[in-house]
Amino acid sequence: MVHTTPFLLVLSLALVAPSLSATKCVLTGQWTNDLGSNMTIGAINGRGEFPGSYYTAVTATTNKIKESPLQGSQHRTNEQGQPTFGFTVNWSFSDSITVFTGQCYMDKDGKEVLKTMWLLRSHVDNIEDDWKATRVGINIFTRLHPQK
Ligand code: BTN
Repeated sequence: MVHTTPFLLVLSLALVAPSLSATKCVLTGQWTNDLGSNMTIGAINGRGEFPGSYYTAVTATTNKIKESPLQGSQHRTNEQGQPTFGFTVNWSFSDSITVFTGQCYMDKDGKEVLKTMWLLRSHVDNIEDDWKATRVGINIFTRLHPQK
């Protein structure tokens, strides 16, 4: 009888803990966006930094699309578990760079969603063309293989 209270405490923690963690938005994993691009974000280190890879569905060039590396960092997670983040994709098949900034949200259905804005800097041959070298846009990412 004396031992039932700790047992019940551990049992209730074990039952409640997984549902608590599901209320936080976690960047690590596989994502797809509204253009059909896919990206994988790796483990986040102690400084909030993460590696990853990006497979874009579209390109501003005529080059053959290839997987490209990304590097990013996220802000420390607050109580709400909806961190801001940024990452850079150094395109392996073009001379361009894209920077994304965004926030990892839990939507009203409990699904993780990344709302981002990006700047795509393309290479131009001379300074007179600099004015047309940067595109801007938004992308919305959802998990590629969502857990139910
Ligand atoms: C290039 O065309 O030089 C590199 C590929 C750029 C792809 C852009 S980055 C912003 C937007 N979001 C995507 O998923 N793909 C495009």
